[in-house]
Amino acid sequence: MTPTIGVFDSGFGGLTVLRALLCRLPHTRFAFLGDTARLPYGSKSRRTIARYAVQSAQFLVREQGAQFLVIACNTASALALDAIQQAVPVPVLGVIEPGAQAARAASATGDVLVIATDATVQSGAYSAACHSQGLRALEKACPLLVPLVEEGWTAHPITEQVVRVYLDELAAEADARSLHPDTLVLGCTHYPLLRPLIERIAPAGMAVIDSAESTAEAAARLFNGRAAQPDAKDVPEDAEVRCFATDSVEKFERLGSRFLGRAVGRVELIDLGG
Ligand code: DGL
Repeated sequence: MTPTIGVFDSGFGGLTVLRALLCRLPHTRFAFLGDTARLPYGSKSRRTIARYAVQSAQFLVREQGAQFLVIACNTASALALDAIQQAVPVPVLGVIEPGAQAARAASATGDVLVIATDATVQSGAYSAACHSQGLRALEKACPLLVPLVEEGWTAHPITEQVVRVYLDELAAEADARSLHPDTLVLGCTHYPLLRPLIERIAPAGMAVIDSAESTAEAAARLFNGRAAQPDAKDVPEDAEVRCFATDSVEKFERLGSRFLGRAVGRVELIDLGG
């Protein structure tokens, strides 16, 4: 039987991680769950995030037979990775470590910036992961960006203004701390859709890290026992993907293709309780 990888996010932003996985593991079966009824996780407490994330992980393992889990949500990875690992009997990979490793590979100065949700920043998970890679990290919560991306305003002038304000504040804080950042980590599943805008606005020479790619690489290595380069730039259309959501199925089907790079197909509605 074809092995199944379960991919979980609070919403459908994690489809950016699934996209990178599909390009590397096209012959794997994927089950993706977006906990859209309880999105956003980024403004909630650790306890609540862990409860939601564990229920979601258990669905993918128990009901979908996932033999490997990728937590394609920065907030759940930052606050609930341990809880998920304890709750399911399969290997679980989050996005934080691979993101920090990619930052280390990209940074010459050793100083990196991280933008993420409130909860992710409060957890300090990126700072800790960067620190263990020998990097200094400065994190900033950018809570306005998720709703702007969900609205589809990825190239809108208002979004550009908001991104400018956040990046300017971050630069001023880096200056005040005498940091010399040369790398910016997109620490939220929604931000890769803003990458072209962010790359245009960010200071020249700033490397922009999308942890979706590094997570997919790490997952392919762990799952296959070897590193896998993306087979194709285009997302394979025939790879087997089943998508589940706890609410907003219609919105998921409509907007999901922007994140996945191909049609998401029919999204199945499930109920995980409260
Ligand atoms: N998926 C979340 C993340 O990557 C963003 C959306 C949310 O706040 O739930 O942090």
